[in-house]
Amino acid sequence: MNVFNVYPLLDVEPVKGKGNYVYDQEGTEYLDFYGGHAVISIGHSHPHYVNRLNQQLSKLGFYSNSVPISIQQELAGKLTQLSGYNDWKLFMCNSGAEANENALKVASSWNRRKKVVAFKGAFHGRTSLAVAATDNPSIVFPVNEGAEVTHVDWQDIKATELLLKEEDVCAVIIEGIQGVGGIRIPNALFLKQLRELCAQTGTALILDEVQSGFGRTGKFFAHQHFGIEPDIITMAKGMGNGFPVGAVLIHPRFEASYGMLGTTFGGNHLACAASLAVVEVINHNGLMGRATKFGAFLLSQLKGLPGSKEIRGLGLMIGLEFNHPVAELRKELLYKHHIFTGSSSNKNVLRLLPPLSAGRKECDQLIEALQEVCQ
Ligand SMILES: Cc1ncc(COP(=O)(O)O)c(C=O)c1O
Repeated sequence: MNVFNVYPLLDVEPVKGKGNYVYDQEGTEYLDFYGGHAVISIGHSHPHYVNRLNQQLSKLGFYSNSVPISIQQELAGKLTQLSGYNDWKLFMCNSGAEANENALKVASSWNRRKKVVAFKGAFHGRTSLAVAATDNPSIVFPVNEGAEVTHVDWQDIKATELLLKEEDVCAVIIEGIQGVGGIRIPNALFLKQLRELCAQTGTALILDEVQSGFGRTGKFFAHQHFGIEPDIITMAKGMGNGFPVGAVLIHPRFEASYGMLGTTFGGNHLACAASLAVVEVINHNGLMGRATKFGAFLLSQLKGLPGSKEIRGLGLMIGLEFNHPVAELRKELLYKHHIFTGSSSNKNVLRLLPPLSAGRKECDQLIEALQEVCQ
C-alpha cells in the first residue's frame, strides 16, 4: 500500500479491455460508458492501435525534440486535415493541464498581458495556471496562487465584456462543453459574442477541447457545432486512447520562437503513433458520424426517465441530470448491471462518455439498465 491515496476507488479492477467492454480478473464483462474518463475514443485495444504502437516501439520508442521527428509531422498533417484547421500549427505535450498551461503562455507571449478570464464551473487541470483557471478552490494551494484569473458566471457576456474592455486580459479560456461541471453546452450566440469581443480587444480565445474534442461530440471539436473559430485549441484525453498525450493547436497568426515552449516527452514517437492510430480509426470507421447517430438515439430514448430532470449532450458526451444525487444510481449500474458511468462536480449529473465505437447494442444495454435502476 505505497501508493499515495488520493483517489476514492470503485470496487472493480479492469485488467483487460476489448472494444466497448472491460473485464476483471474473473473475466466478468463490464460495459464502458465512462471511457476511462472520456479517454477511450476508438475502443479498448483496437487492433490498428495496438499494431501501430507495437511497430513503433520495435523501431524507435523515443528520441528527443532536438532531432526531426517525422511521425510528429505526419500526425500534425493528418490531425489538422481531419479537424479542418489545415494551416494551424501543433505543439505537443503530455496532458490536458499542460496543454492549457502552454496555450495561456502562447496567448501571453503574443499580447504580453497577464490576466485570464475563465467561467464558473470550469475544469482546466491541476498545474498552477490551469488550476487557477479551474473553478474549484479545494484543489488550489498556496504554491498555486499568483495567477490572476477571474471566474465569470457561465455565459455572462456583459461581465465578460466589462473585464475585457477594462482589464489587461491576455486570454479567455472556455471548454467546448463543460465536462466536469456537468455537461453544460454553451449557446451559439454567446460564443459568437465572445469571439467578437476577443477580436475587438486583442484577447486570445482559447477553446479547451480536452474532454469535448477528438470527435466525441460528432464534430472534431465541440466548438465547430457553433460556427466560431477560436485562436488556440487544446486537446488531450481521447487524443491518445489511453496513451498520455496532449496538444495545443495554434492559429498561424501566433509566431513560434526557439525555446518559447518545450518538453522532454511531448510529441515522442510512441505518443504520435498512438494518436495517429486514433485519427486514422476515427476517419476510416466514420466514428464522428457514429457518435452523432448514437448520441441522438440516447438523448431520445433516455428522455423522461423517472426521477430525471434533464438530459443534454452532443454526440457521445451526455449528461443526465436527476432531482437527486446520482452516487447510488452509479454504484447500482456498476455493481448490479456491470456498466461504468461517470460522475461530475454537480452531484445530480451522471456523465455518459463511452468510446465513439459504441453502437446500438451498447446503447440498448445502458437504456435497459437505466430504466430498471430508475424505477
Ligand atoms: C476540460 C478539461 N480540461 C483539462 C483537463 C485536465 O486534463 P489532464 O488531467 O490530462 O491534465 C480535464 C480533465 O478532466 C478536462 O476535462
